[in-house]
Amino acid sequence: MITTASAPGKIILVGEHAVVYGQPAIAVPVWEVMAHALITDLPAGSGCTLIARDIALHTQLVDAPAELALALVTRLTLAHLGLPLDPDWQIEVHSTIPIASGLGSGAALSAALVRAIALHAGQTMTPAAVSELVFASERLYHGTPSGIDNTVIAYGMPVWFVKGQPPTTFTPRQPFTIALANSGIAAPTKETVGDVRQGWQAEPGLYEARFTAIGKLAWAARQAIEQGKIDQLGRLFDDNQALLAELGVSSPPLEKLIKAAKATGALGAKLSGGGRGGNIIALVQADTREAVKAALLVAGAKTVIVTTVGG
Ligand code: MEV
Repeated sequence: MITTASAPGKIILVGEHAVVYGQPAIAVPVWEVMAHALITDLPAGSGCTLIARDIALHTQLVDAPAELALALVTRLTLAHLGLPLDPDWQIEVHSTIPIASGLGSGAALSAALVRAIALHAGQTMTPAAVSELVFASERLYHGTPSGIDNTVIAYGMPVWFVKGQPPTTFTPRQPFTIALANSGIAAPTKETVGDVRQGWQAEPGLYEARFTAIGKLAWAARQAIEQGKIDQLGRLFDDNQALLAELGVSSPPLEKLIKAAKATGALGAKLSGGGRGGNIIALVQADTREAVKAALLVAGAKTVIVTTVGG
């Protein structure tokens, strides 16, 4: 028997970093990039093989180190579902989500894997249960993740997220379009989250004021999305970007992309995810999207993906 399962990438619209400190944030799935897992039965006694060609990984599950996220998620899922801990399966994962770029590549691989294991065993899992297992691997990748990445990826819907609370999924009043430009600079989220933590420890009052201000922007963005006020959402992207720069997670290459998007008519633009490198997002409309896309490529974007939220 062969089983396959997938999970999307994600972007954070508003609220990254502040969400780690309890402020609300909004994230949406990006279906243009995806992670996939494929499970095939092997002859009895073969044990479980884990393959990830993208990272040249080919190992028996029993030999995989505890800190290998894919092995951790596999073990946790098998245990959670009450399955043998070394089944005679070949598990292969691959992904079109660029790694270390703020698109949730690790969480999406884990989510695809959890789903494939459950399906292969003939069991069903709720998005909340998938999210919880993926969260365990996020801790390895990120150190102190808020849980937003695993949540949006496991639910596959726009989410309003507050750490430690059940997420709310929602549908925008009116679809809107985002151009997503990859700077090509790998910037592990663990590092930027760690740097923000250091800043917060050094100047707690200042950082908490910034987190609170970002939380207010998330509330305003939710209202704008629910009321279909797309112009307003663009201005909120800009305000959020200014605060992210104050937190120290922007960078000259990201600022260059943001400037290029705004100069060609984007309604707003900001970094998305951990920052420093990775992606920026720009809110575009039908009449500006091609110009913004072209300008982003000229300004150094390695790839530009256009995705529509809602609708
Ligand atoms: C990463 O996609 C978003 C951050 O806020 C980290 C987190 O929420 O775990 C930077």
